[in-house]
Amino acid sequence: MSIWQELEHQYFMQTFERVPLTIVRGQGARVWNEDGREYLDFVGGWAVNSLGHCHPVVTKAVTEQVQLLIQASNQFYTIPQIRLAELLVRNSCLDKVFFGNSGAEANEGAVKLARRYGQLNLNRAYEVITTSGSFHGRTLAMLAATGQAKFQEPFPPLPTGFVNVEYNNIEDIKSATTDRTCAVMVEPIQGEGGVNLPDDGYLVAIRAWCDQKGILLILDEIQTGIGRTGTLFAYEQYGVEPDIMTLAKGLGSGVPIGAILAKGRVAVFAPGEHGSTFGGNPLACAAGYATVKFIIDNDIAGKVKTVGQYLIQGLEKMKQKFQLITDVRGRGLLVAMEFDSDIAQSLVMACLDRGLLVNRLKPDALRFMPPLIIGTEEVDEALGILDSALSSAIS
Ligand SMILES: Cc1ncc(COP(=O)(O)O)c(C=O)c1O
Repeated sequence: MSIWQELEHQYFMQTFERVPLTIVRGQGARVWNEDGREYLDFVGGWAVNSLGHCHPVVTKAVTEQVQLLIQASNQFYTIPQIRLAELLVRNSCLDKVFFGNSGAEANEGAVKLARRYGQLNLNRAYEVITTSGSFHGRTLAMLAATGQAKFQEPFPPLPTGFVNVEYNNIEDIKSATTDRTCAVMVEPIQGEGGVNLPDDGYLVAIRAWCDQKGILLILDEIQTGIGRTGTLFAYEQYGVEPDIMTLAKGLGSGVPIGAILAKGRVAVFAPGEHGSTFGGNPLACAAGYATVKFIIDNDIAGKVKTVGQYLIQGLEKMKQKFQLITDVRGRGLLVAMEFDSDIAQSLVMACLDRGLLVNRLKPDALRFMPPLIIGTEEVDEALGILDSALSSAIS
């Protein structure tokens, strides 16, 4: 264990099961440890480094902004915040934006907004329906929203107002809907829950049900948004428009930022009903603007679609070769590989030894969520390392 890792054990709350690697520098899809060893990064800051590490447009925007204005209270107008809000609205189906600092915080705000909408328009309805296998964040309310008992069990009692139903089962959503329901909240593709894709027609059916009942559809695009799945927002691929959408992760390409977007008729917060000290600060918004503008201007989402298909095809080929691989699934550069036994951690370590960073999604599954700017050469390199790691696992 390195000196940094020893110090971490001494001083840091032991909440993370860390991989024994201390990252000191990053560039593009590569990172380096304190000894100068290079790694190909297919974790990407947990689907955050959308433009890779220290992309010149992000670095330039942040460097310029840091010399101009870092923080000003939301009591005042600041230009980067307004520019980013306009960019997001012009490139989505939503009309109004609120900025926070993280994904969980964005989701909390989205649920507050849905409750406020319910109070004003749905006879004080407040309940939000969420699905099994979902992940919406670590705050107490978002743990209640998250459909995975392992995150909830250590922290009772959890806030009320959430009903969890079976994923990919529209009938379950219908039977859980009552006059208390104000919204249904889902991820277009479940990220943390296993890179679980919605069945054909599921999201369209939820949209139709919400319309029929006059309740809101909240799409949590914290992991799927900002080009990750091959379109700027995943909803574009599923023929639905949300009433509220949340973003974070890839939005700032590494700089912390979250956002709530809503249709105009749904953006019912009155002054004072929601706020944030740091949310929408000029620094984070400058990073967000540079990221989103670059992604749009360079059709990064289109490139993600192509390189993502290339990755999936490569993994599919590997599935033909290695019987222990039971499934390959995903969209764009959000991809999972599942195994017939709990070998994910040993594969993470075998890949690390060979210079590749991958994520252990579950004991029996890996996830790949590299920077969106990777090309087929990096995919080939990653596939080669994974092949070697898998060969060592079966030998
Ligand atoms: C779909 C989804 N929602 C919410 C969150 C929580 O985001 P944060 O960790 O920024 O609070 C995550 C994080 O992984 C996520 O994947």
